Amino acid sequence: MKRIAVLTSGGDAPGMNAAIRAVVRSGHYHGLEVYGVIRGYTGLINGDIRPLSLRSVGDIIHRGGTILYSARCKEFQTEEGRKKAVEQLRKHEIDGLVVIGGDGSFRGAQKLTALGFPAVGVPGTIDNDIPGTDFTIGFDTAVNTVIDCIDKIRDTATSHERTYVIEVMGRNAGDIALWSGLADGAESILIPESPYDLDDVVRRLKQATESGKKHSIIIVAEGVGSGVEFAEKIKEKLSVETRVTVLGHVQRGGSPTAFDRVLASRMGAKAVDLLRAGEKDKMVAIQNNKLVGIDFDEAFSMKHQPDMELYDLAKILSI
Ligand code: F6P
Repeated sequence: MKRIAVLTSGGDAPGMNAAIRAVVRSGHYHGLEVYGVIRGYTGLINGDIRPLSLRSVGDIIHRGGTILYSARCKEFQTEEGRKKAVEQLRKHEIDGLVVIGGDGSFRGAQKLTALGFPAVGVPGTIDNDIPGTDFTIGFDTAVNTVIDCIDKIRDTATSHERTYVIEVMGRNAGDIALWSGLADGAESILIPESPYDLDDVVRRLKQATESGKKHSIIIVAEGVGSGVEFAEKIKEKLSVETRVTVLGHVQRGGSPTAFDRVLASRMGAKAVDLLRAGEKDKMVAIQNNKLVGIDFDEAFSMKHQPDMELYDLAKILSI
């Protein structure tokens, strides 16, 4: 292995830059040339592939987003598109590829490997929904962004003694809702992995008011449905003043937390180690704070589950 490339794909996540930096710096450290692909698989098909020097990744460890840009590429989903991508990789004499992204991006990496091109994945998504790894890059920052917002909402919620419904991202996973709900003492956390009972939510809200709480916070994961619609249901059942905040893409931006920077640095370097060891078709994962490489197939055969002990704990602590 003499020359490797790195790309970021799918929804960006804070810490992706730290992961790019780790791939570039550890690649150079081990005597490899490192190239960056611009705009994910789109750039791969178009041959937008540029050398990344040690200094080109300076001053980015603390920045959100991705200096390589990201895209969701339709053409890459076709066999023809993927063949074009492999041709470009060969033309640029690249020997291995690091794909930083979510599960959709990993399925793309796996297809490249099936065409004979070694590719490994680094899990980068705020959703924390990739099976096989305890954490993904960007999740911790997103949770911290959410709790920062909820702390602010709390102030006004208390002043006006209102009930707040806050919709958070996560696609089909409830991790962001669960962790931010526990960290912020939300009265109710609605996640797609555990169907909710509206009467139970209402009962808990009533109980909270009766026990002297001045406001209520309900966190709804986007995978459960619309926060606005849920607030309507609450209003019908309880005559309380309700407001809704949909946090949206604010959750994807910002400077990565120390946890995400360290995770990204470790994972980026591990991806280079995997390629150097001749591995392919694998993703980097963190399991019990140890970095491992696991087969994409193994990861795809599992189903991501949030930590339901946290869910139960949040219920107990929010009475
Ligand atoms: O996967 C990250 C994520 O932010 C999800 O939480 C969300 O459902 C989706 O991407 C939004 O995608 P887009 O930026 O394309 O609207």
